[in-house]
Amino acid sequence: MNNVTINEKKGLFSRLTEKKIKKGSCCCNIELEEVPENDTKEKKEACSCSGADCCGSGSDMIENKEEIREHILKNYEGVALKGSQGCGCGCNTLQREGNPLDLKELSLNIGYSESDLTGVPNDANMGLGCGNPIAIAALKAGETVLDLGSGGGFDCFLARKQVGETGFVIGVDMTSEMIKLSRMNAEKSEYSNMEFRLGEIEHLPIADASVDVIISNCVINLSLEKELVFKDAFRVLKHGGRLSISDIVATAELPQNIKQDLSMMAGCISGAEHIGNIKKMLEETGFINIKMSPKDNSRQILKTWAPDRKIEDFVASFIIEAQKN
Ligand SMILES: C[S@@+](CC[C@H](N)C(=O)[O-])C[C@H]1O[C@@H](n2cnc3c(N)ncnc32)[C@H](O)[C@@H]1O
Repeated sequence: MNNVTINEKKGLFSRLTEKKIKKGSCCCNIELEEVPENDTKEKKEACSCSGADCCGSGSDMIENKEEIREHILKNYEGVALKGSQGCGCGCNTLQREGNPLDLKELSLNIGYSESDLTGVPNDANMGLGCGNPIAIAALKAGETVLDLGSGGGFDCFLARKQVGETGFVIGVDMTSEMIKLSRMNAEKSEYSNMEFRLGEIEHLPIADASVDVIISNCVINLSLEKELVFKDAFRVLKHGGRLSISDIVATAELPQNIKQDLSMMAGCISGAEHIGNIKKMLEETGFINIKMSPKDNSRQILKTWAPDRKIEDFVASFIIEAQKN
């Protein structure tokens, strides 16, 4: 649980150790500074939450942003290598136990149609979504579409079907193995007007005011800087451009043991932001015509993700739409 950081500016005595320890029913982050004679002194203490398992039971618990980002990246690297056998968003108990995923059942359940599942490269759909952002995007021929966190490229291929020869589809993902996979899928599809770019959705590798529609499926909850995601989405959208997102959001305060669980973070649950805060972020960024609605079968979808944790009482699968003036 120890995490050592070295701050070069402070030289020899700058060795900082962060330690999580349990104090009563609280979990405290203690920052220790090494001082001469190999001694240490407590510098800062930040305690949070209450409850018996606040510090966790030795399982993977969240300690800092860098660690979380690294964990998410590694997790999705693994998913890209294992395909639908990997455990990402929507990973259910059966999958965790090594059983093959029924991709068709899962995809129909979250809102895709039978025809969506045909005519796309096999490895593009890994069952990582929590809805179907294309269903409400009303894409038109000739439009430029950007998919935030494109994974194997499933939604990009569906978007490409709708925008046709004269449109253009770009997928952005921070996991290089995902980008490799989606590029291989694009080669198999022989579409020439698609591109997959390595990058972060907080700092998009996309020109200003160049995109008609932004789609995203179960990704923004994974971002540790959601305001930046919305700001950069706003920057790259053309005037009149729209946002069509499917994501997991919080509908109630998440219990600390869920918030702090790394596997639940990569599983698209712990990072869910409260729906009210998402609305506020979109408004503050400048978006208009904001619409947010839960999927009808949200509870049913989420129950299968973690049956023993009652996550459906705290999070929901939402469709979020907004527009740039
Ligand atoms: C749950 S998967 C969803 C993939 C795809 N949207 C789908 O529905 O199949 C999340 C994807 O988002 C990517 N991702 C997570 N955080 C990201 C970030 N901050 N910037 C870019 N990509 C990110 C991951 O690498 C992963 O491929």
